[in-house]
Amino acid sequence: MEQIRFIQAEHLKQKPTDESKLGFGQIFTDYMFTMRYDEEHGWHNPTIEPYHPLSMDPSTMVLHYGQSIFEGTKCYRRKDGGLQLFRPWDNFARMNRSAERLSIPKFDEELALQGLIQLIEVERDWVPHSHGASLYIRPTIIATDPRLGVHPSHTYLFFIILSPSGAYYKEGLAPVGIYVEDKYVRAVRGGIGFAKTAGNYAASLKASEIAEEKGYAQVLWLDGVDQKYVEEVGSMNMMFVVDGKLITPMLNGSILAGITRDSILKLAKSMGIETEERRISIQEIINAAHAGKLDEAFGTGTAAVVSPVGELCVDGEKIVVSNGKIGKLTQKLYDTLTGIQYGDLPDTMGWVRKVD
Ligand code: COI
Repeated sequence: MEQIRFIQAEHLKQKPTDESKLGFGQIFTDYMFTMRYDEEHGWHNPTIEPYHPLSMDPSTMVLHYGQSIFEGTKCYRRKDGGLQLFRPWDNFARMNRSAERLSIPKFDEELALQGLIQLIEVERDWVPHSHGASLYIRPTIIATDPRLGVHPSHTYLFFIILSPSGAYYKEGLAPVGIYVEDKYVRAVRGGIGFAKTAGNYAASLKASEIAEEKGYAQVLWLDGVDQKYVEEVGSMNMMFVVDGKLITPMLNGSILAGITRDSILKLAKSMGIETEERRISIQEIINAAHAGKLDEAFGTGTAAVVSPVGELCVDGEKIVVSNGKIGKLTQKLYDTLTGIQYGDLPDTMGWVRKVD
């Protein structure tokens, strides 16, 4: 494996002192990991270097055609001060699946993981101390050819940046309201819905803006063909507890294969809860709510963790879930997942990579 170079920063930034005011993705640390791709050398020159703005030609391909992919994962501080990552190898594996879909050359996942670990070691003092806060990690690849022809770039930049962050939603663990979108769609069969790529998020902005104007935190997307079946919430996968059973849309190619989604399904199973991954129509959820069988609803995601849904707005109808409070199972799953992530509970699933 190629040696990772280190370039020392001349000045270090002031670290935030009040962790309750971090917000999400607003502050960045002193260093970043980078590597470059060209056809002659493949992925090369892995480096930890001072965090800096990127200088780009205005014709750089990523700016025009969105050939870019990213990931989100976190580093947590245990009570004993040590640090740990949660399933980071799964993020790099998913990033390579996104790369394949976006015609971006695959990278060495082990090298990326080593780069991340060395970056965290350098930046260890930036990892927050309070429960609920963590160091958010954003690996990204962008197309860097300065060309306007529509074809895959021949050169790329891979970088990892770090951001000490608090809760993704301003509500924290308080239930959020979700607007079920019936006009716009996020992804279609055969499209790029499963890939973590900029375009999916760009496609979601208009609907999110409208939902926010109506007082909802996020949009719940329905499928792009029939607009009947539940897909995901843009920054989260969706789960429902119906009649004691945990149900979630199956991975159909147009939703993201969430690592938190997978972790929650495995934790629920280990608790003896019946789980189903299948097609779920929004009508089924409405019917369950009317029959008093919609016990709980929540979203899952790296940034959002486990986020209770207190209200769904479907076609003008407001469906209140769990009396607008956090459900019992939602709370238990949140406590178990974050317990493992912060090292308060044993890592029985082999998900944790300690960095100390
Ligand atoms: C994450 O959960 O890490 C995400 O990438 C979702 C969002 C912040 C874009």
